[in-house]
Amino acid sequence: MDIEKKVWEVLLSEEEIQTRAKQMGEEISNDYKEKKLLVVSLLKGSFIFTADLVRRISIPVKIEFMTTSSYGHGQESSGNINIISDVKGDLTGYDVLVVDDITDSGLTMKYVMEHLKTKNPTTVKCCVLLDKPDRRQVDLVPDYLGFTIPDKFVVGYGLNYGDYYRNVPYVFVVTEQDR
Ligand code: IMP
Ligand code: MG
Repeated sequence: MDIEKKVWEVLLSEEEIQTRAKQMGEEISNDYKEKKLLVVSLLKGSFIFTADLVRRISIPVKIEFMTTSSYGHGQESSGNINIISDVKGDLTGYDVLVVDDITDSGLTMKYVMEHLKTKNPTTVKCCVLLDKPDRRQVDLVPDYLGFTIPDKFVVGYGLNYGDYYRNVPYVFVVTEQDR
């Protein structure tokens, strides 16, 4: 993939993302007021969204990280989700909120939520910045969602293209140059 020969098109600006992250943080703070909130952030893609979201959460929150893989360097889910790094111990008493950058097939989120349920938490819900519902392969509706987007490969704000561009502060679409 040679990004030099492609067209970058901004899909979501920095300002749009920040405004939405603030709203989502406020909504989560309100919903989890009487609860014992544990955010589980899925690396690597959600590290930037998680950092912005949790700073908009105004109630006590514990933060853990998990690393999963399925994509490698391609643009399609392999369907085999591997847990590379897990949340340790039992989650009794916690209300878990799994945070990811995007749900595409939904396989990663479904697998992670089912896995975390075996650790005995009170509840397990999910929060994603972006959703591509057209590509869903499993029954999954995000509990908290930033933006529904079309079936296009998106990059930036944590999302990678090859190993790069996670640091771009907005979300963009890469398309083929037709000239
Ligand atoms: P799913 O298991 O197919 O839902 O895919 C989830 C994971 O695939 C996300 O956490 C991302 O890491 C990656 N992914 C899905 N769509 C995109 C995309 O458009 N750009 C970059 N990464 C993506
Ligand atoms: Mg990911």
